[in-house]
Amino acid sequence: MNYLLYEEEEALAIVTINRPKALNALNSQVLEELKGLLDEIAQKDHISVVIVTGAGEKSFVAGADIAQMREFTPVQARQFAKLGQQVFSSIERLPQPVIAAVNGFALGGGCELAMACDFRIAAENAKFGQPEVSLAVTAGFGGTQRLPRLVGKGLAAELLFTGDMIDSAEALRIGLVNKVVPVVELMDKAKAIAKKIAAKGQGAVRLTKAAMTEGLNMDLERALAYEAEVFALCFSMADQKEGMDAFLNKRKPNFTNA
Ligand code: HXC
Repeated sequence: MNYLLYEEEEALAIVTINRPKALNALNSQVLEELKGLLDEIAQKDHISVVIVTGAGEKSFVAGADIAQMREFTPVQARQFAKLGQQVFSSIERLPQPVIAAVNGFALGGGCELAMACDFRIAAENAKFGQPEVSLAVTAGFGGTQRLPRLVGKGLAAELLFTGDMIDSAEALRIGLVNKVVPVVELMDKAKAIAKKIAAKGQGAVRLTKAAMTEGLNMDLERALAYEAEVFALCFSMADQKEGMDAFLNKRKPNFTNA
């Protein structure tokens, strides 16, 4: 991998987009590398939570690579959009929860990457935006769809039509991020939340993610039926007995992820 850093800390995986000279802009190679890495992480039973971040303090990801896109034909542009969409959808469908730790610029494809994660923690210096219209293109890695689903159509429309950047406080106010923390505390905070998740019954955490991700694409009735099925599935796992037994016996659970 040329453009990604990968670390594991016990049950946590940390994926860092590492192209700091271009503010971690996403070209096809970064996307292909991310695709391969996500496929590997999906198979790792010992990994409970993934954190995605950008190298350096200035930028999470400043967008898709404008230098690469400049000479695209429409056919190449479609392929590029579909590649990014596929990779970002695989983040949504990854069995493990994914937290975006947003350091600095999250623009265009960077904002779209953060939005494909399950939730976002931002450093105080984070800046979000969908500036594609300034380049006379639309968003293409899911921004026209995930932004309105996250913040509502009116706010999304304003951001997508004006290309304005918003700071971390505004991102918090509109619900684009869950928390804003000092720059130096970003990774510690993200890891603390990740560890809290990793201490729960992992089968249940994974099924919760699946129920949310799949359910949001269904009508309510079908989504509720799906929820009942994943609830039932929990009762085929040893951790369910352990979790409930621990509660009733006033002790800490000892989950085995079985
Ligand atoms: C390629 C980029 C880049 C990008 C920054 N760089 N963003 N290269 N693609 N998206 C490069 C710059 O060219 C520069 O390279 C180096 O990173 C540092 O950037 P500067 O502009 O010098 O830094 P600064 O003045 O601090 O400004 C930071 C910035 C600005 C505000 C983030 O770089 C910027 O506006 N970037 C573009 C943001 C953007 O429009 N993103 C959306 C892209 S479209 P050199 O070689 O000069 O040092 C998109 C579509 C997604 O994402 C969907 C596709 C299907």
